[in-house]
Amino acid sequence: MRVLGIESSCDETGVALYDSASGALVHALHSQVDLHRAYGGVVPELASRDHVQRLLPLIDEVLRRAGSERGAIDAVAVTAGPGLAGALLVGCGVAAALGYALGLPVVPVHHLEGHLLSPLLADPAPRFPFVSLLVSGGHTQFLEVREAGRYSLLGETLDDAAGEAFDKTAQMLGLGYPGGPEVSRLAASGVPGAVRLPRPMIDSGTLELSFSGLKTAVLTAVRRSDPASAQARADIARAFVDAVVAVLTAKAVQALARTGLSQLVVAGGVGANVQLRAGLEAAIGARGGRVYYPPAQLCTDNGAMIAYAGYVRLARLGTAAATSAAYPLRVRPRWDLCRLDEAGAA
Ligand code: KG4
Ligand code: ZN
Repeated sequence: MRVLGIESSCDETGVALYDSASGALVHALHSQVDLHRAYGGVVPELASRDHVQRLLPLIDEVLRRAGSERGAIDAVAVTAGPGLAGALLVGCGVAAALGYALGLPVVPVHHLEGHLLSPLLADPAPRFPFVSLLVSGGHTQFLEVREAGRYSLLGETLDDAAGEAFDKTAQMLGLGYPGGPEVSRLAASGVPGAVRLPRPMIDSGTLELSFSGLKTAVLTAVRRSDPASAQARADIARAFVDAVVAVLTAKAVQALARTGLSQLVVAGGVGANVQLRAGLEAAIGARGGRVYYPPAQLCTDNGAMIAYAGYVRLARLGTAAATSAAYPLRVRPRWDLCRLDEAGAA
């Protein structure tokens, strides 16, 4: 089965063609980072307009590179939520039109299910069941994944997502957008322990997290520091990264202990963070567990994870995974991952 995947929920236009028989995956991506940089964050209207311009050429590019024609597609998978409503509508509109014109099933995919299943495209891949840590710009949550489609929430952030805290910290330190990679780079030259920041909820005994207090503590540290000192900024970045890594690592260990599982699957943009990876691998490896990630180029938003998640839904649910009406396709800016099947496809 060849599934065309379309992602347009935020600031990346992603398209991919996944062939389930051969496992072949061709994907193409356009990142809007340059477009939004001047504003220090994603501007929803600009994002939607850019998706409109990029999507059809990207589909043509993917089909050309895969040596396929539109007629060779068996199903279209598209991110239907959560995300920016206008941006989602662009992908869903194109998917619905393709489905209608070519007589294909259109599978609405939950963006986080895409992230969650993307490590299955890596080698080595985890096996069900596992614990998943989703850490992106919009989400920070631990989920127990018994099998595809069966997700239960173990705990999540009560306020900001980890990625959001990275991006705000970058702003406060005068770094560029997106902030995660920049803070991570600066932290590498910081002295551990030179600045002390809180590690929110690390001893709460629950799998809930909180990052807004840490953000405020960074602001206080920046105000107290010498604005001319590059080392002072690096030390703050280091303290921030160490705090985030300590909290996420402690909770990940707890999540595995509580579920009795040994595999942790990390997905979402912050999962690309080298310090976080090192912290998780050390702590979980020491307890006989193992950490898995998506292939490097699939850590941030992309169409490949959507094509794959769409395929998994079709394989599991058959035509019930597809929308019953070709158009309109409902977008779900807010959508609970743990109630996917209940919600129905349409
Ligand atoms: O999953 P993603 O691409 O988009 C969604 O939010 O859905 O995640 C983007 C987030 C941003 O907050 C970005 O700063 C963060 O992931 N990020 C990182 C790194 N690379 C991306 N944070 C820390 N370290 C990184 N290397
Ligand atoms: Zn994402």
